[in-house]
Amino acid sequence: MNNGYFITGTDTDAGKTWATIALMHYFKQQGKSVAGMKPVAAGCRLRCGQLQNDDALLMQQHASIPVDYRLINPYAYELPVSPHLAGRHDPVDMHAVLAGFKQLKALADIVLVEGAGGWYAPVNRQEDVSDLAKMLALPVIIVVAIRLGCINHAKLTYRAVQHSRLHCAGWIAACVDADMLMREETIQTIATALDTPLLGILPYLERADFHRLAEQLAGL
Ligand SMILES: Nc1ncnc2c1ncn2[C@@H]1O[C@H](COP(=O)(O)OP(=O)(O)OP(=O)(O)O)[C@@H](O)[C@H]1O
Ligand SMILES: [Mg+2]
Repeated sequence: MNNGYFITGTDTDAGKTWATIALMHYFKQQGKSVAGMKPVAAGCRLRCGQLQNDDALLMQQHASIPVDYRLINPYAYELPVSPHLAGRHDPVDMHAVLAGFKQLKALADIVLVEGAGGWYAPVNRQEDVSDLAKMLALPVIIVVAIRLGCINHAKLTYRAVQHSRLHCAGWIAACVDADMLMREETIQTIATALDTPLLGILPYLERADFHRLAEQLAGL
């Protein structure tokens, strides 16, 4: 049994956070305690005297256990730009992230770690999301935003994860575009192209309903 997964996506705004919260509920339904981690976030807002990010707040809210905000999101940058730019005065220290991850792992059965942007998005001047996932040595779940161009993005991301020599536990189809034509056929094309299981198709929802999304997941 894995004690965590690294959630990456085909892009920023791919549906990673919605999929991560759905996975948290999925594991909770299996009787496991779950926590989330968003180690690096840009575009954060000042709340209660600290920079905070919506993804990390959702993870805090949906965790099985109370977790201090900074443990979930140790690097919160204000500027909504790539973390290696937003964090140029306080760059991400991978060892600090690993230490935080170990603390979280001691608190919950499963820790889900969401990357920032896509697989090769820089997190500091030397390292990118793939380095972060390698350091945490977690199996990877790829969230594919089902929209025009996604077949190419899904294949590129899958190849890149393979290149990083990390195990890919599967992929999730996130239906983020209400007007997507031939959605089922597109998902089927990706399922055939990727040699990793389709863990679920998250339907397009006007408003987040994470219990409903969790019902669509299987295979972990
Ligand atoms: N199943 C869905 N149905 C409808 N809209 C969705 C769905 N999943 C995601 N979205 C929309 O896409 C937006 C981006 O989703 P999400 O925040 O999960 O992406 P992300 O990949 O985590 O983005 P980031 O790179 O900023 O972390 C959401 O705010 C929501 O509006
Ligand atoms: Mg997110």
